[in-house]
Amino acid sequence: MAKVQTHTFDAVIVGAGGAGLMAALYASKGANVAVLSKLYPTRSHTGAAQGGIGAALGNSEEDHWEWHAYDTVKGSDYLADQDAVDVLCKEAIDTVIELELMGLPFDRFPDGSISQRRFGGHTNNDTGKPVTRACHAADRTGHMILQTLYQQCIKNNVNFYDEFHVVDLIRVDDTVRGVVAIEIATGEFHIFHSKAVLFATGGWGRCWEVTSNAHSLTGDGPAICLRRGIPLEDMEFFQFHPTGIYKLGILITEGVRGEGGVLINGEGERFMAKPEYAPNIKDLASRDVVSRAIYLEVMAGRGINGKNYVHLDITPETVNRYFEEEGSERRIDRAYIEAKLPDIADFTRTYLGVDPVTEPMPVQPTAHYGMGGIPTDIDGCVVLDSSNKVLPGMYAAGETACVSVHGANRLGTNSLVDLVVFGRRTGVHMASFCQETALLPLPENAADEVMASFEAMLKTEKGIKPHELRKAMQTTMTANVSVFRTEETMSKAMKDLAELRADFQNVVVEDKGKQFNSDLLETWELGCLLELAEVTAVSALARPESRGAHARDDFPDRNDEEWLRHSFCHKEGDSYRLDYKPVTLGRYEPKPRVY
Ligand code: FUM
Repeated sequence: MAKVQTHTFDAVIVGAGGAGLMAALYASKGANVAVLSKLYPTRSHTGAAQGGIGAALGNSEEDHWEWHAYDTVKGSDYLADQDAVDVLCKEAIDTVIELELMGLPFDRFPDGSISQRRFGGHTNNDTGKPVTRACHAADRTGHMILQTLYQQCIKNNVNFYDEFHVVDLIRVDDTVRGVVAIEIATGEFHIFHSKAVLFATGGWGRCWEVTSNAHSLTGDGPAICLRRGIPLEDMEFFQFHPTGIYKLGILITEGVRGEGGVLINGEGERFMAKPEYAPNIKDLASRDVVSRAIYLEVMAGRGINGKNYVHLDITPETVNRYFEEEGSERRIDRAYIEAKLPDIADFTRTYLGVDPVTEPMPVQPTAHYGMGGIPTDIDGCVVLDSSNKVLPGMYAAGETACVSVHGANRLGTNSLVDLVVFGRRTGVHMASFCQETALLPLPENAADEVMASFEAMLKTEKGIKPHELRKAMQTTMTANVSVFRTEETMSKAMKDLAELRADFQNVVVEDKGKQFNSDLLETWELGCLLELAEVTAVSALARPESRGAHARDDFPDRNDEEWLRHSFCHKEGDSYRLDYKPVTLGRYEPKPRVY
């Protein structure tokens, strides 16, 4: 085996999005921290979050963190753990103020307070009407969070290893000793030896054909965990955001509907107002509800021109007409759209030639967010099983983790809240863990196993091309484990994925070089996606009910009696084993969701 460079830190953080950076900032107050990213930190996917970060500041109308908590639990279809949700919604308030004090350029109300807009599922709990809770910086809120936190990390002397791709976790029994990474520029392997490791590696939306996720969102952290004996929780729940740009999947923020935009079908109807969908809250219902409505309209032949998309209309002409009909005094115009939604206006003009000020935008549901992931407690400590046994020194935060605050369906804006609230708590916990814990020795040849697997990939000369496998995986996931699923479709996906896994053993990497070998690294990422696709299908098939983003045509009802519980999927050899733990309830007893 080639020589491997070793670096030693107290804590290693994998991923430089919002969760990784917030954790790094706090961990660096008490520990020597390295952040490893396969990208440049400011290109992390947090930068794609548009519409806002939810916090009950009450800047323009009455609001309470308990209302935010109720909306989160209801949106989750009662699968979220309510103790964790309380932490999320209570701490959202001072975390947003903390970001403001760090210099994040939020939009402002005329009185100088942070501007807040409406978002799906956020309500005044007394009236059931939409409430303004999403704090935003135009429609670039995630981008601004990323820039702000990166600057703070630089100021605090966090060590960054940019374009280092982590490919393995060094675990010895119930301890972790660091990670193995490939330096993308040279192809050399490096060991980062540490007391604590945090995975903040984002989602795995690239399992599907149409997704809002960046190319880099390939589920590396969860896949490595699975291979190292850590289960994944609630993987059957993957959110489809209702408004991705038709065919491309690029996100069109829910902030469009928060600013008054409406969804229109091929017959010109504002279909969300129909009694079977959400007659009260209409276009601002939770994402699972809106995505299903779009799907059903399309299936009934009411897509635009009979195709599989609908229109999202923010033109002042349409929006002001609805405001007037609803007795609202609000009005919007071109200048308002350009100021509040500049990025999405730019995207649709650039990618579609559609000016949203004068024309509706073609949209379809897009694979957006994994509610499940690496199981953790409320301090980001990874748990190994349904009895909540902690793996000391191992942490996860952000989309890659499952705390669980999103349950079966995440409320819009809560991804950004999750990153900063649990990123901060995790960083604090890591700092004290590192102060109390000695560095354990590295095992002999800690990188050998993963290096051998890369060598084997490079040696294969005959077999299938990675892009063919990727396409086949995305096709079966889109057809069979999507907005709606049945036993038949999921079984078909599992059969297809098992074949693809076998084919992956003979995948051919054409570039045999070392420097910037994206062919090799993307093939390794494909292996991660294939595993997560299988875990998603296995977990989904085993849940015979419909809840949140897991909508089964063959089991259309929610079954609280038997299924108010979280799934844990363990990898054992080439197969998977599921077990379950009950949901932590609190103030809110499960009841039917009404919109
Ligand atoms: O619609 C959006 O701006 C997305 C936000 C989110 O996923 O929370």
